[in-house]
Amino acid sequence: MRAIRAAIVGVGHFLPRRVVPNSEFESFLDTSDHWIKTRTGIESRRFAADDETTADLGSKAAINALSDSGIEPGDIDLIVMATSTPDNTFPATATKVQSEIGMKSGYAFDVQAVCAGFIYALVNANALIRSGEAKRALVVGSETFSRILDMSDRRTCVLFGDGAGAVVLEATETEGGPADRGILSTDIHSDGRYRDLLYVDGGVSTTRTAGYLRMDGKEVFRHAVKKLNATAQAAIDKAKIRAGSIDWIVPHQANYRIISATAKKLGIPEDQVILTIQRHGNTSAASIPLALSEAKSNGKIKAGDVLLLMAIGGGLSWGSVVIRW
Ligand code: ACO
Repeated sequence: MRAIRAAIVGVGHFLPRRVVPNSEFESFLDTSDHWIKTRTGIESRRFAADDETTADLGSKAAINALSDSGIEPGDIDLIVMATSTPDNTFPATATKVQSEIGMKSGYAFDVQAVCAGFIYALVNANALIRSGEAKRALVVGSETFSRILDMSDRRTCVLFGDGAGAVVLEATETEGGPADRGILSTDIHSDGRYRDLLYVDGGVSTTRTAGYLRMDGKEVFRHAVKKLNATAQAAIDKAKIRAGSIDWIVPHQANYRIISATAKKLGIPEDQVILTIQRHGNTSAASIPLALSEAKSNGKIKAGDVLLLMAIGGGLSWGSVVIRW
């Protein structure tokens, strides 16, 4: 049966210049490079400059994705931007990206699902393309988590970094089978009973401040392995493929041990997992498009490959997307 699919036709990323190695935290916290590396896999991360915002990073990633696709900003009719660190409370940071890239028509909005944000944004853009509400979409994940880190809390501040990634999606007519290009399946969930496991202790309507990130890491870890495996299996089933057909897992980069346990449960070898956590840390909604962009530019991901994207974050919110590249 013929069907419209959303295919990825371009990908790009942007990282702030400042590299922050684990050793920098040793100078003011009771922590060590060894602890951070062995518990999380992180060796360094990037922090944005004081005058560099989420929209700035996102716009640069979007421009790089557009240039990879060969599509002009004027031919894009939708921007879905995933971020939990917006430039302003309103308007949507996506509208700032829209003007910064020179897009004068179409529509742009933000999606907030913390570390699962890019998955949620892709699901939204995919649905709008399939329904005919958009033909070409930019899906951007951009974060400046360094702005909401409590630098006296060693349990959280060593984990996160700043950055942005973006993909260009285009409506493509296909036969509708798993061999065709594009997004093959999506699966998303949230469960607000767990919202206190990972949150920011401020907000417009509560404290009238931005607040700082708080996390019960052990509990989130426990949920992560179970929920990521379940959503990955669901997306694989909906795509009508077998786990063995997956060429690459492109997971949200929160913790190497979570990624490795999930790949093992799915029976997918570790050399088929895209890993960037060593150099990026956890960039929340930016981590998946950043990983996609790096993996494409270093020749790992090729046309026709099947990719499994998956993420979990605050909410709790989680989900997966299966794509034929
Ligand atoms: N340096 C040194 N010691 C530390 C540090 C640190 N940076 N951080 C914690 N410790 C200590 C703890 O205080 C604790 O000491 P204690 O036993 O004396 O109390 C000990 O190390 C063990 O702490 P745990 O929290 O049990 O360590 P764990 O092995 O669980 O690792 C971590 C912690 C890395 C946070 C892990 O639990 C994790 O990755 N959780 C999941 C994170 C995640 O996936 N988040 C979702 C996405 S993020 C988002 O949506 C914004």
